[in-house]
Amino acid sequence: MAFRRFALFSWCLSCLCTGEVRESPGISNETLADYLKTRAEFLKHEDALADGSGTKLTSDEIRFDSWLRSTVQSMIAQYKKERLVDRFVPATYFPRIRAHIENTTLYKVLREMPKGGALHLHFASASSLEWVVKQGLDLPGCYVFWPNKTSNVSETLPVGSLAFFNSTQVKPQGFFPAHELSREKDFREKLLKLLTIHEEDEGLTSPEIWKKFADIFVRVTGFFTNRKAVEEYFVATAQEFLADNVTHLEFRVDLFHDQGALFDLDGREYRGAAAMDVFQKQIDRLHVTSPDLTVKLIGSSVRFRNSSEIWKDLEFAMQVKAQRPDILVGWDAPGEEDAGHPTLDYAKQLLEFRDLSRKKGIDLPLMLHDGESDWSTMNTVDAVLLGAKRLGHGFNIVRHPLLMEEVRKRGVAIEVCPISNQVLRYVTDLRIHPGVEMLKNGLPVVISSDDPGIWSARGLSHDFWEATVAWQLSARDLKTLVRNSIQYSGLEATEKQKVMANWKRNWKQFMARWRSFEVSEVSEVREVLI
Ligand SMILES: *[C@@H]1O[C@H](CO)[C@@H](O)[C@H](O)[C@H]1NC(C)=O
Ligand SMILES: *[C@@H]1O[C@H](CO)[C@@H](O)[C@H](O)[C@H]1NC(C)=O
Ligand SMILES: *[C@@H]1O[C@H](CO)[C@@H](O)[C@H](O)[C@H]1NC(C)=O
Ligand SMILES: *[C@@H]1O[C@H](CO)[C@@H](O)[C@H](O)[C@H]1NC(C)=O
Ligand SMILES: *[C@@H]1O[C@H](CO)[C@@H](O)[C@H](O)[C@H]1NC(C)=O
Ligand SMILES: *[C@@H]1O[C@H](CO)[C@@H](O)[C@H](O)[C@H]1NC(C)=O
Ligand SMILES: *[C@@H]1O[C@H](CO)[C@@H](O)[C@H](O)[C@H]1NC(C)=O
Ligand SMILES: [Zn+2]
Repeated sequence: MAFRRFALFSWCLSCLCTGEVRESPGISNETLADYLKTRAEFLKHEDALADGSGTKLTSDEIRFDSWLRSTVQSMIAQYKKERLVDRFVPATYFPRIRAHIENTTLYKVLREMPKGGALHLHFASASSLEWVVKQGLDLPGCYVFWPNKTSNVSETLPVGSLAFFNSTQVKPQGFFPAHELSREKDFREKLLKLLTIHEEDEGLTSPEIWKKFADIFVRVTGFFTNRKAVEEYFVATAQEFLADNVTHLEFRVDLFHDQGALFDLDGREYRGAAAMDVFQKQIDRLHVTSPDLTVKLIGSSVRFRNSSEIWKDLEFAMQVKAQRPDILVGWDAPGEEDAGHPTLDYAKQLLEFRDLSRKKGIDLPLMLHDGESDWSTMNTVDAVLLGAKRLGHGFNIVRHPLLMEEVRKRGVAIEVCPISNQVLRYVTDLRIHPGVEMLKNGLPVVISSDDPGIWSARGLSHDFWEATVAWQLSARDLKTLVRNSIQYSGLEATEKQKVMANWKRNWKQFMARWRSFEVSEVSEVREVLI
């Protein structure tokens, strides 16, 4: 490598030193050819550093690759030509460009592509919140905080907060039965607006959009305390991901020592292991019709809690892990990084957790939301050095070259969620999102969608589309990203083998069949692209 760099350098010097200005450069065609050879070799060496560089493509994959490249290049040529902000796609705010994305052949092909696992999802926002508004409101006992303008209810809750009450419970002021409110014209539409992020939110800053985002979670918290609501939403979500050809799901779910239980209308409570069983029962049910589906949960506290509360949550998570080792596969403390505690505040607790887990023989890896910050990159350092097995977002890591080396060595996967980072105003233009630098630097990256339900994305395909176009990914890159999502999942060894084998079979099938999805849509694409 050193020699090659020198060769390039000396070529540059010789061209600077000639001094005189000629109509056409005096450099011979052979010298130019030499330079081009050096350049190609340089790029080849550099490519060897990328994750997945060792992958050999089959002839089907090579055909797919050349289609992918030419499709993306022709889209880019079109976007460059139009120079319209609204169509300069990966730089356009996702809610404004979603319909266009869904209109492209690339989207249709990516939707069919077997995408392995979605490793970074929050349960309450993993699938369309339209479901909550359309079906969820009809569940027995569903109420909405919808105080009348004229009444005198102090608004301690955001308008549109959901809750469940049985017939004998006293309802707090301002809550009305959902079925009653639904008779009002536009009620469901207004509520949906409060539960989602859309085009008009583009002008908000990161802290402002986080406020809206946090309010959405407050609004749906009460909805997801009802067992029936959780069950039905879970099934709808799994089906949405299966339809997107994603077969493995890992959900961050609340796991607090002191709150977050599920309830039946009659007051029956499901906490900790019992709450895990509520999910397990639905997984087993879905297995009958979708034998390829696998689901794991990542117990989550929140980074707004102080360290003593975090410790109690860690202890509680260990206890649940001991009771339900098959379903609980990780621990996290999500939340807006720039507003919550830095990870270093929890170092003592996380170190103790590590020691105690070892002593008890409990393996509950840290899968920490870290490195999603505008102001500090230090959380990525602490997360990795404290032993995290995966990093949620992690885009701040590119500031730390030695840490990146550590991540490569330890095999710490980075859960990259491009659209989330754009919607929450961290990276406006996805072409310069650090995810691609991570991939090119050989870090194990997976693509996920975080809270797709809030911005009306489905499954993983929108995020794959943005990454593919913004970063001009190859078939090898896509294969690497998808394979990583199984490799770095929380599945245990034998499950993982089985899931990997299934995925390989589906991938091969897809590579033999993808053209049929494309050909059937060709006329539509012409209209979009030309
Ligand atoms: C060098 O290459 C140019 C462009 O390809 C060509 O027009 C020219 O004839 C070549 N010159 C020699 C000396 O081969
Ligand atoms: C989608 O494609 C159709 C033609 O196939 C076109 O009429 C329509 O405007 C497109 N919509 C968007 C949002 O690009
Ligand atoms: C407030 O709205 C609810 C639901 O539409 C209605 O039943 C109730 O009568 C209203 N109360 C007042 C004081 O307007
Ligand atoms: C509304 O509430 C405030 C404070 O809770 C109280 O002072 C006021 O009298 C109330 N107004 C009416 C019309 O009930
Ligand atoms: C309603 O809920 C309360 C509190 O959870 C419970 O104590 C009560 O038994 C329930 N009533 C009915 C009729 O289910
Ligand atoms: C931590 O938070 C809990 C709950 O809010 C509170 O009761 C406790 O006093 C706090 N501890 C410290 C040391 O601040
Ligand atoms: C992708 O999903 C669709 C719809 O569920 C299914 O028909 C198709 O066979 C899947 N494709 C592959 C390659 O698994
Ligand atoms: Zn997240």
